[in-house]
Amino acid sequence: MSTQIDHLMNESRKFAPSAEFAAAAVASADLYESANANRDDFWATQARELLHWHTPFEQVLDWSNPPFATWFADGELNVAYNCLDRHVEAGNGDRTALLWEGENGDERQVTYAELTDEVSRVAHVLEDLGISVNDRVAIYLPMIPEAIVAMLAVARIGAVHSVVFGGFSADSLRARIDDAGAKVVITADGGYRKGKVSALKPAVDMALADRGNGVQETVENVLVVRRGGNEVEWQEGRDLWWHDVVPAASAAHTAKAFPAENPLFILYTSGTTGKPKGIVHTSGGYLTQAAFTHRNVFDLKPESDVYWCTADVGWITGHSYVTYGPLANGATQVIYEGTPDSPHPGRWWEIVEKYRVTTLYTAPTAIRSFMKIGRHIPQKFDLSSLRLLGSVGEPINPEAWMWYRSVIGADLAPIVDTWWQTETGAIMISALPGVTETKPGSAQVAVPGVAIEVVNEAGETVANGDGGLLVVTEPWPSMLRGIWGDPDRFVETYWEKFAAQGYYFAGDGARRDEDGDIWLLGRVDDVMNVSGHRLSTAEIESALVAHEATAEAAVVGASDEATGQAVVAFVCIKESHKDVLKDTDALVKNLRTWVGEQIGPIARPRDIYIVTELPKTRSGKIMRRLLRDVAEGREVGDTTTLADTMVMSTIQSKVTGKK
Ligand code: WT7
Repeated sequence: MSTQIDHLMNESRKFAPSAEFAAAAVASADLYESANANRDDFWATQARELLHWHTPFEQVLDWSNPPFATWFADGELNVAYNCLDRHVEAGNGDRTALLWEGENGDERQVTYAELTDEVSRVAHVLEDLGISVNDRVAIYLPMIPEAIVAMLAVARIGAVHSVVFGGFSADSLRARIDDAGAKVVITADGGYRKGKVSALKPAVDMALADRGNGVQETVENVLVVRRGGNEVEWQEGRDLWWHDVVPAASAAHTAKAFPAENPLFILYTSGTTGKPKGIVHTSGGYLTQAAFTHRNVFDLKPESDVYWCTADVGWITGHSYVTYGPLANGATQVIYEGTPDSPHPGRWWEIVEKYRVTTLYTAPTAIRSFMKIGRHIPQKFDLSSLRLLGSVGEPINPEAWMWYRSVIGADLAPIVDTWWQTETGAIMISALPGVTETKPGSAQVAVPGVAIEVVNEAGETVANGDGGLLVVTEPWPSMLRGIWGDPDRFVETYWEKFAAQGYYFAGDGARRDEDGDIWLLGRVDDVMNVSGHRLSTAEIESALVAHEATAEAAVVGASDEATGQAVVAFVCIKESHKDVLKDTDALVKNLRTWVGEQIGPIARPRDIYIVTELPKTRSGKIMRRLLRDVAEGREVGDTTTLADTMVMSTIQSKVTGKK
């Protein structure tokens, strides 16, 4: 981390927007002015201008019971109506909403009118299955139009979706279904990934298999989209094919009004403990900030832009910047099912050329992997349609930023580096294109209406030039409303650290430069960021310990050139299982597969070191800091607080011996 900080601190390049871009920009400096004049009025204006309210609101923010906020609470709206019907009613039904590209080359284009009809049909199907307001529906799908349709159909009837990333295992799906008490699961037989069909339905079957432990099954039905064409098992009475029931349903469905604070979705994310947190978002405030930021941060011109956010709907980025923000704004967007390198390393750039993509929103890890392959790949394609580039998920190093700008953006397209979290629901820190002079590597400034500070441990604002912790000092419309079923954890995790000040603690380190611009420096807790995906050290440790041969495990996030951080595990084997040590290669392979099964392939450690002991303090706390030193190939730091100072040299020799 410290070399990264030194490096960032030497970065001083600045790029002003071109006069042409600035003149036509959607955003303007006035936004900051009106937000600063009165934050609540500002958001109320945005909510009224960007959304349709069935019942207009009078109340804006209620912060009388912090940290439990409500926004626009006496107003009523329908989120799906805002994303669909109103565009059709405004005469834009023929506008393309989705330009879908399957990994295998399949294509589908869906207009706003068609999307409205399809969502209406699925809304009927869900209602016929007994789903109503506040019921939970789990969605476990590949990146196909039905994923977006399913989310909007659930929203349309006032129910709550919990999208589970298709890369998660049956066990992870099981845990999420149980925690939310989902009544229906929407899935597919399979989807295309890396050139072949990757099955999904078997994971659902496994998740729903009788556990024989008396836990009541909440799932009554499974709605299955045919995409992969792979064989699937079928449970009569429970399972339904989408193509049997959806086309048979009526496309006439009235979107009823629901209160602004009706929960819209739960999305699970990793925290510092082993148990993922179900982050709860509600309707009116969430949609307001998602639409506002999508419009202003991406300079959206809905009539002419072709927008492409490469995130999967299994993550918050896919919720706010594939489904809700773009569709609320009537945008035309590309959806791509597969991996960037299937069937060739230029696939993404081929898609940009084919659809004349104007706006690309992706993660630094993707940019770095393209950098590694070389500029000759993107240079084979016509990328001249691109006029704006976005980055999200982790700090973008200045080299990657510059490469993105020059190779993908032809030295012209502004780059917006957007900082936010599952919990914040929408973008919180970003340049405004056409307004802000951008700096490679800095997320820069809070968006209008959002109040960010960098503070020291005592909660005092640091001076420009100093580092500290990132906090949000005022409530914002798309803030999480809580953790599903666990209000205490919500308060503890985010609000206790700066309870005196009433600040939201984000878990990120940050620094302000001499201009007051913000530079994100990574997580300060036991949360790792691997390829922009959030993983918990504790969750992977508990998966490892659940293996019969494992006595103890410690996991750290080590910096990795390609993925930002990589999972590195140190594992001790039980005396009773020391036979497995005869073949450590097989053991390591075994443990990696095991973690993949327990959580999902993204959680599989890059390296696993089998050690005889873990470094602990006299009070028994594992010193992960020292393990990180080893994992990153650094000299091991201060070991004086270790109970047994020899442990580290044993581990060190083990690790270097292996490399
Ligand atoms: C964590 C949130 C927000 C969607 C994707 C991740 C890191 C996110 C940036 C950025 C530096 C970033 C933070 C944050 N992060 N964007 N532009 N610069 N760091 O959502 O899984 O909830 O993870 O991602 O560490 O806390 P998430």
